[in-house]
Amino acid sequence: MRMNTKALAMKGIILAGGRGTRLLPITKVTNKHLLAVYNKPMIYYPLGTLVGAGIKDVLIVTGPEHAGHFLNLLGSGKEHGIRLSYEVQEEAGGIAQALSLAEDFADGGKTMVILGDNIFEGSVAAAAKAFSRKRHGAKIFLKEVPDVHRFGAAVFAGKRIVAIEEKPKWPKSHFAVTGLYMFDGSVFDIIRTLKPSRRGELEITDVNNAYIKRKDMTYDIIKGEWNDAGTFDSLLRAANFVMRMQQKDA
Ligand code: G1P
Repeated sequence: MRMNTKALAMKGIILAGGRGTRLLPITKVTNKHLLAVYNKPMIYYPLGTLVGAGIKDVLIVTGPEHAGHFLNLLGSGKEHGIRLSYEVQEEAGGIAQALSLAEDFADGGKTMVILGDNIFEGSVAAAAKAFSRKRHGAKIFLKEVPDVHRFGAAVFAGKRIVAIEEKPKWPKSHFAVTGLYMFDGSVFDIIRTLKPSRRGELEITDVNNAYIKRKDMTYDIIKGEWNDAGTFDSLLRAANFVMRMQQKDA
């Protein structure tokens, strides 16, 4: 295994497939994750989250139509100080189906998985380091939001998370499950047991619920801002949020 003292013994996966139907017509001839969010292509932000966590090996899973554009944009990853690999998701079969394509890449090890439209303000380096030392399990990152019905929503019994409900009409908490996850190698066995949901997709929420059921799930509540950029309104909010973040850092 390639290792240097600083590299984290965990690989990163960016899920950047899907048809981006909620953003038509701007996604008609390109992939959602290549759209501009303020001054960078969207995928730069989740990539930055993985790189900032100390990850050196990243796989991008995307659809066949625009896979070449990702390669043109990001190449070998050298510019970002990492090694990039690519995998093609032939059909849009859901987030968990996209993740299943990363099994060979993960090679039995732990992974940090991020959705290509999720933008985080803060670093998750400490959480990644702690998780890489754990023997097994999964971790999700929660954020309190006013519109939790748009997301996976956490259900608690006291402080313990007992379930995640995907886009519930009547959410039982205000905590959204963000699109950042850490899994042990058994995630691929879990995906093999999943059945397609009502929208015909393998859901990441079902993966997380399987870990919760076997009491092998932990969570962190993130302190910084978080945004996804999958709809017109959230894309605009994301651009404004990135602009504010950059002004803060300047
Ligand atoms: C997906 C997940 C959802 C999660 C969200 C975060 O939803 O299914 O649980 O809260 O990402 O961005 P989607 O964006 O596919 O609707």
